[in-house]
Amino acid sequence: MRHFLDIDVTDQGALRGMIDDARAMKTARNGRPKGAKDDDQPLAGKMVALIFEKPSTRTRVSFDVGVRQMGGETMVLKGDEMQLGHGETIADTARVLSRYVDLIMIRTFEEQTLLDMAEHATVPVINGLTNRTHPCQIMTDIMTFEEHRGPIAGKKVVWTGDGNNVFASFAHAAEKFGFDLTFSGPPPLDPEPGLKGLYTVERDPARAVEGADLVVTDTWVSMHDPQSAKERRHNQLRGYQVNEALMARAKPDALFMHCLPAHREDEATSAVMDGPHSVIFDEAENRLHAQKAILRWCLQD
Ligand code: CP
Ligand code: NVA
Repeated sequence: MRHFLDIDVTDQGALRGMIDDARAMKTARNGRPKGAKDDDQPLAGKMVALIFEKPSTRTRVSFDVGVRQMGGETMVLKGDEMQLGHGETIADTARVLSRYVDLIMIRTFEEQTLLDMAEHATVPVINGLTNRTHPCQIMTDIMTFEEHRGPIAGKKVVWTGDGNNVFASFAHAAEKFGFDLTFSGPPPLDPEPGLKGLYTVERDPARAVEGADLVVTDTWVSMHDPQSAKERRHNQLRGYQVNEALMARAKPDALFMHCLPAHREDEATSAVMDGPHSVIFDEAENRLHAQKAILRWCLQD
C-alpha cells in the first residue's frame, strides 16, 4: 500500500514520475470545463475522505475537484465535527474509515496524528499539511518551477522568513530533486535541527537571493503558531520581506512563489505578488494537477 506521507520517505523515481504525470494530466485536460471528467477515469468507483483539523481553501477545493475529475467521489470532514475531535482515537478512526473509503487525506496538527492514521488505516493516507511538513505543496511548486523554467536540478532556491512546515518540505525536496536551497531568516525561527545538511544559511536576505532562480516565502505566523507570537514574529521577520528591491537582486528571470494564503505587505508586497516574477496563481492551480498525480500513484495496484 502506498501512503504519501512526506517527500523524504518517498522514492525518488516515484516523486519524479508524479511530477511528470501531473504535467501530462494538465496538458491532457487542455482547457476543458473544470467539472468535466478525465477520459481515463482512474478513480472510477473510489471514495475519498478529506479530513481537515485546520482551515483550508486550496487543499480542500483542489483535492475535491481533482478526485471528481478522475471519476471518484469525496466527502469533506471537519475534525471537530467528527468523534475524532471528541476523544475517539486516531487509530480507531483510521480502522473505521478504512471500511468505508478507499483513501484518506488528512490535514492535522501533530505529525504523530498523520503517522498513527497511516499505521492503522488499511487504505492509502495522504499528508495534507501538518505542523511539520506540507509535501503536496512542494510537489506542486516543483511542477510549477519546471513548467516555467525547465529542470529544477542544480538551480538555486532561496527561502526567506520562518523556517516552517513548508520550508521543511522544500528541504526534503532539495535532496530528492537535486537543487540548492538557502535559508534566510532569524536564528529563533531556524528550521528544525533534523533538516541540517539539506540547506545552507545566509542571514542577510540581500546576499541570500544573489543568483537565485527561485525566491520563496510564506506567512510569518502559521496556523499552529499561537496568535500571541504575532507581534514578536513581525519584529523578527520585517527585514525578510520579499519586495521589489529584494527581487531585483535575484537573477533577472527569477520566479517568486508563495503557497498562499498570504498577508500582503507583510512577508511579500503586492508589487512582487502581482509582479512579473510571480507565479503564485499557477502554484495554486497546480495543486489540482500535482495532487491528481499523487492520488493516482497512491491508488495504483
Ligand atoms: N497552500 C495551502 O495549502 O492553502 P490552503 O491552506 O488554503 O489549503
Ligand atoms: N505555513 C502555513 C502554510 C499554510 C498553507 C501554515 O502552516 O499555516
